[in-house]
Amino acid sequence: MSVFEDNSAGVPPPHKLKDVDLFSPGAEEHWYDAYAILHREAPVHRLPREGLTSDTDAFILSRYEDINRVVKDPLRYTPITSLMLEQMAAAKTPPEDMDYINMMMVSMLTLRPTVELWRAHRKELTDPWVGPGAERHREMITRRVDALIDQLPSAGEVDFVQAFARPLPQQVMAEVLGFPESDIPQLAAWGEAQVMPFVYGEGHLNRLSDEQLAAQFTQLDGFKEYVQDIVRAKRQSPADDMISFLTQVTYSALDRKLTDLEINGIVYAMVLGGLETTQYALEQQAQLICDRPGLFEALQADPSLLRTFIEESLRLRAPTQGLSTRLTSQDERFGEVDVPKGSVLHLRWAAANIDPEEFECPMDLQLDRKAASRHLAFSAGPRVCPGAGISRLEQHIAWTRLLERLESMSYGSDNTFSHQPGIMLGTLQLNLELVKAAK
Ligand code: HEM
Repeated sequence: MSVFEDNSAGVPPPHKLKDVDLFSPGAEEHWYDAYAILHREAPVHRLPREGLTSDTDAFILSRYEDINRVVKDPLRYTPITSLMLEQMAAAKTPPEDMDYINMMMVSMLTLRPTVELWRAHRKELTDPWVGPGAERHREMITRRVDALIDQLPSAGEVDFVQAFARPLPQQVMAEVLGFPESDIPQLAAWGEAQVMPFVYGEGHLNRLSDEQLAAQFTQLDGFKEYVQDIVRAKRQSPADDMISFLTQVTYSALDRKLTDLEINGIVYAMVLGGLETTQYALEQQAQLICDRPGLFEALQADPSLLRTFIEESLRLRAPTQGLSTRLTSQDERFGEVDVPKGSVLHLRWAAANIDPEEFECPMDLQLDRKAASRHLAFSAGPRVCPGAGISRLEQHIAWTRLLERLESMSYGSDNTFSHQPGIMLGTLQLNLELVKAAK
């Protein structure tokens, strides 16, 4: 029997607060029912003894205002970015893995204790490639999108996830980083291994069992050495890609160039953050279009609406639904609820995005919504997702070209619409009936 078994079938939706459990197998089928209950009855929902230690609590925050306050002040609400890694460090892993864990510690950027350092890391190391600087990839992304559309049948059914939503971010990140084309399948396999805690991890802390961790290490085998080899090669003969850039740059926070291991860590973070998130955004956008008669045609007729469509889809179907990423550094009060120092805060971005106190008609996709990008799908504040720029660009180019090159798009047959387990919102399959436009 696999250690990664899905036993989520047939879980009923919650009707009362006592039924709400966002983390049990099958919960992902009814998350939005649960959010309505949380907003109504427990916007600050205590999970007794589920903090980092068994004598502390965790709290699920679902209000926009509360989450926004937390993410804007990372010194007061300390990020727990390395929890998964600390768990690995504490598990019974062979000593050689410690090097690996240290590498990932760097990758999760835990070595950034001040807001200034977080900002420097982003501005100098990632922004030029996957943040605002992602614009430099427009031509490459368009070429990749077009090549994937070329491979779609002129008319008929296709699994949109396998044919488009999954390969696009894999190909884009491989080219941004500077991996050879032929290594994309291996990169995809490592990407899958990296997200394991967020798919199979237990509870709000996404804990893997020791057995699952061992399986994860096996699947990650070779990643570090592979990246080390590429880093060394690019130090010798740099090209126009992110890894070459990282070998050359002098990082102001350290006043020196990055070591191989530090670069390896950043690459790890790019692969971890950059593949499945955008896949699910694209897949859910296809569903939103198929669900709304006339939307495909409206976007075709006026492509300037795409920007708001993409923001609204990220708001309504946040790919990363929630993360337990902050710890209170002092006693706090959210609304009516006292939250003691040392509590874990589970930030439920997806719930904040449909908070009726913040968004009028929150469940409606409105193409004329004002300030549509204020949703929290990418979080906000100094730790906001560094890959938001490239992800938005991929989504925008993907839908621009799909709308130009397709005549119609609707659901195909045999869709179950069941979601993958874990904290990401997405289906692993989506059959669509597509008709390409005449050339
Ligand atoms: C639709 C796509 C994406 C969504 C919804 C998303 C969402 C998020 C969220 C909610 C966080 C947590 C921020 C916080 O703790 O305050 C995050 C962090 C992060 N994301 Fe993304 N992300 C996406 C795409 C990407 C891409 C394309 C990359 C890389 C190219 C990326 C790399 C990262 C990294 C490295 C972090 C950790 C940042 C830190 O701890 O400072 N993400 N993302």
